Amino acid sequence: PPDNLALTPPMGWSSWNKFAEHIDDATIRAMADAMVSSGLRDAGYRYINIDDGWQGTRDRNGVLQPNAKFPDMKALADYVHGKGLKLGLYTSPGPRTCAGYEGSYGHVEQDARSFAGWGIDYVKYDLCSGEWFYADADSVQRTYYQMGAALKATGRPIIYSLCEYGRFAVSRWGQQVGGHLWRTTGDITDDYATMSDIGFTRNPKFAPAGPGAWNDPDMLEIGNGGMSDDEYRTHMTLWAMQAAPLIMGHDLRRTTPAALRLLTNRDVLAIDQDPAGVHGQMVRKVGDVEIWRKDLRDGSVAMALFNRGERAATASALPADTGRPTIGAMRDLWAHRAVPAATRFRIPRHGAILLRIDGPAPPN
Ligand code: DGJ
Repeated sequence: PPDNLALTPPMGWSSWNKFAEHIDDATIRAMADAMVSSGLRDAGYRYINIDDGWQGTRDRNGVLQPNAKFPDMKALADYVHGKGLKLGLYTSPGPRTCAGYEGSYGHVEQDARSFAGWGIDYVKYDLCSGEWFYADADSVQRTYYQMGAALKATGRPIIYSLCEYGRFAVSRWGQQVGGHLWRTTGDITDDYATMSDIGFTRNPKFAPAGPGAWNDPDMLEIGNGGMSDDEYRTHMTLWAMQAAPLIMGHDLRRTTPAALRLLTNRDVLAIDQDPAGVHGQMVRKVGDVEIWRKDLRDGSVAMALFNRGERAATASALPADTGRPTIGAMRDLWAHRAVPAATRFRIPRHGAILLRIDGPAPPN
């Protein structure tokens, strides 16, 4: 990778899924507080990302000001940094953002300098308004390059998140324009149909990924209440198997014990954050059950069993699914226990099992 940012998929929180435009300085500070007190920071979640809705107008020199709900962006960044966290912001290349706020059109370099000056560590660039940008992949690529270069020119390490909805063959050029992650789909919503369409069907088409260059199937909905615990477990398992950025999207002050268990399972996070950065993929399908594999840096392998059906099913990971001639010890990561190699698992409707299996790396 061209820089050492995002060597593993970024982890953090963003305001959009839960709060949309209903955000202010106090809410962001409260999220930073809750990130720490909940243990989420220490599990690895570091970015607090302010999405659309923080922007005000430009001053007479064209410098973009936050709106009245964010009186002092630099002070907010200092506060977040003081908690051992990082702060992200959002803008668009067009004159207006998706929610109608001031975009960066005509002010790209100036805005990048403002962000760096405030101490921003992550910028999401959302392809909204300025329809002339959408004419072809080349102009979209140039547009993303301009902000990428502007961020780089500030000299501050800033993660650059491209929000182009999986269009314009982004994975061919996302890293060249300075991007560390790029969206592969439209917006997630807090329901199983949308989440599973993204996780099983859309995002897999973008494999591979790798250190510094991540496919982004959009932010997590865990904790927002629209799916069952089994469905949220599938959500987390799919994202971990595909080395997806883990950007939470719920009210961190109201993290239920069940959501916290899904979000902080260290063994599952280690699958997502594995340094090899492999985008795992389906290797077999039996009935409603999909069997997925992700090779890990240390020669072991993660295997996931997903039941996409409407009734409970049983399935097992076969040695052949792992790509290894022999397999070693097997651990059920959600159940926190060692399991015998031939175990047949009962998987609830819309549920998932995630295994880590020791073994030598496959022959090349
Ligand atoms: C569309 C993006 O996909 C969302 O994640 C969010 O950033 C909104 N725009 C904000 O307007």
